[in-house]
Amino acid sequence: MDDVTFRVFQPSDHERLKQIMVDAFDGVSIDQGMEAAFGEIAGHDWRWRKGRHFDDDVRRDPDGIIVAAIGDEPVGFISTWIDREGGIGHIPNLSLTPECRGKGVGRRLVELALQRFRDAGISHAKIETLVQNDVGNSLYTSLGFREVARQIHFVAEL
Ligand SMILES: CC(C)(COP(=O)(O)OP(=O)(O)OC[C@H]1O[C@@H](n2cnc3c(N)ncnc32)[C@H](O)[C@@H]1OP(=O)(O)O)[C@@H](O)C(=O)NCCC(=O)NCCS
Repeated sequence: MDDVTFRVFQPSDHERLKQIMVDAFDGVSIDQGMEAAFGEIAGHDWRWRKGRHFDDDVRRDPDGIIVAAIGDEPVGFISTWIDREGGIGHIPNLSLTPECRGKGVGRRLVELALQRFRDAGISHAKIETLVQNDVGNSLYTSLGFREVARQIHFVAEL
């Protein structure tokens, strides 16, 4: 943890962070669940689909992406965007390389995201996780998040 620094996203981080995220979501991905049920759709696998979520994060607010790095090497990130009118700070994605997990870096990234929201005068933060994501469930509740709903993702073959 001591050697990890935190900084704002730079365009040169894009491909590496996208890769880190896709690798990290193996086993906790809705897109992967879709593929398990239906196979590849339109010639694209779940990794391609999940990777596009990072492209969306960058398009929406590149300055809202906080990068964890060791030296110049990105090791993970948290993405955020702010709905000022609605008063909610959103956290779409959070990922770390396996070697950097379990040392408090994920917790620190969430704390930095929450601080960004507070600094912007935002009163509430929102994050989602899958039921099977044990670390997500325990980390977010320990940081003050309270469960308000559960969602089911349905997909139909046409
Ligand atoms: C989620 C993620 C970023 C967390 O980062 P991390 O640096 O490993 O997390 P931290 O070390 O800050 O600690 C997480 C907390 O969860 C706990 N935890 C870790 N593994 C756990 C498990 N399998 N079950 C329950 N709790 C667990 C830790 O004990 C810690 O709690 P503590 O601070 O009270 O000791 C990282 O695990 C990851 O990249 N996971 C894969 C992608 C992912 O699931 N992203 C989130 C999707 S919603």
